[in-house]
Amino acid sequence: MSETADALKELEDELALVHLRGQWQGDPNRTTKVTESPKNGIRMEPVPSGVPHIWTWAQIEPLLAKSLHAMAESKTARRTLVMYNPGLARGATHTLVTAIQTIHPGEVAWVHRHTIAALRFVIQGGAGVTTVVDGEALVMEPYDLILTPCWTWHDHHNESGKPAIWLDALDVPLVHNLNQIFYEEPGAPAQNARDDPVGPSPLFRKTWDRGAGPERPLRYAWRDTLAQLERHAEEPGSPHDGIALEYVNGATGGSALPTIGCWIQMLPPGFQGTRHRHTSSAVYFVVGGEGATEFDDQTLDWRRHDTLAVPNWAWHRHVNRSSSEPAYLFSVNDIPILRAFGLYREEPEISQLQLDPLGPAP
Ligand SMILES: [Fe+2]
Ligand SMILES: [Fe+2]
Repeated sequence: MSETADALKELEDELALVHLRGQWQGDPNRTTKVTESPKNGIRMEPVPSGVPHIWTWAQIEPLLAKSLHAMAESKTARRTLVMYNPGLARGATHTLVTAIQTIHPGEVAWVHRHTIAALRFVIQGGAGVTTVVDGEALVMEPYDLILTPCWTWHDHHNESGKPAIWLDALDVPLVHNLNQIFYEEPGAPAQNARDDPVGPSPLFRKTWDRGAGPERPLRYAWRDTLAQLERHAEEPGSPHDGIALEYVNGATGGSALPTIGCWIQMLPPGFQGTRHRHTSSAVYFVVGGEGATEFDDQTLDWRRHDTLAVPNWAWHRHVNRSSSEPAYLFSVNDIPILRAFGLYREEPEISQLQLDPLGPAP
């Protein structure tokens, strides 16, 4: 070891004693891939967090039925099966938690509120199944989207004759890593829901309240969602995602929740998506249809009510295996967080032909 190297080693040892590290030593906890660019430069990019993974409805459904008996009372803790990615300590992706929740007929899932933002995508519901959000009772019909934004009171009710079931999505990993988790229970099982058959409208605001903006609806009915998809069905759509619509906050034009983007997409019969990758991660829920999502080293086949995790920066493409039926996918993503900080990137796969249309030099 040269004299300089000795001195450097001695310095690094001394730094470690007082919890310092030379920037040149690198960060062993950093998850980046470093490659050399063509002109001997350096390029760094993220390594995807977690792995592609599917939770099939065939796996979940019998366990959900079992949970109704094994956990007789859902009041104090939600009867929820939380999905975790085999490659992560927490979350279906590194920013999103998803789960399947069920409530017995006659049950109330206790009112509470938390700084974690959440949403429900209804699988089994109908008349008598409601979520009350800050006093507003929202009916939960199949495939409706219901938002429970940060710090809103919410309780769930099932006054129907069969179990209510829905997909939960929450921004737990983000809020947890920022160490911003607050939680409250008022001690009563439910809120007093106001009688509000009309509901709020993003088209109107109160003139007597100067600070008031348009009111945002917290429920996106599947009937309206499907009608919008069908309205655009003949358009070319995205080469990666088909006819993909984003649910927006009608009052701001922004994403449905500040931390969670929500999409609904229709893959036309025989759709063969082109590969791409993006810095956002997503969790897909199959509303209907049969298809597959292909990654670099595996293909995950999906069908109705399966849930699929797509990690950030992982190459993938979607395929509709049916030549006659469209496939419908609901998904949640972390795009709003990334866009807010200028971090969102998307990269379509560029073939060699596109890079060099004249072909290789002789
Ligand atoms: Fe909650
Ligand atoms: Fe994608």
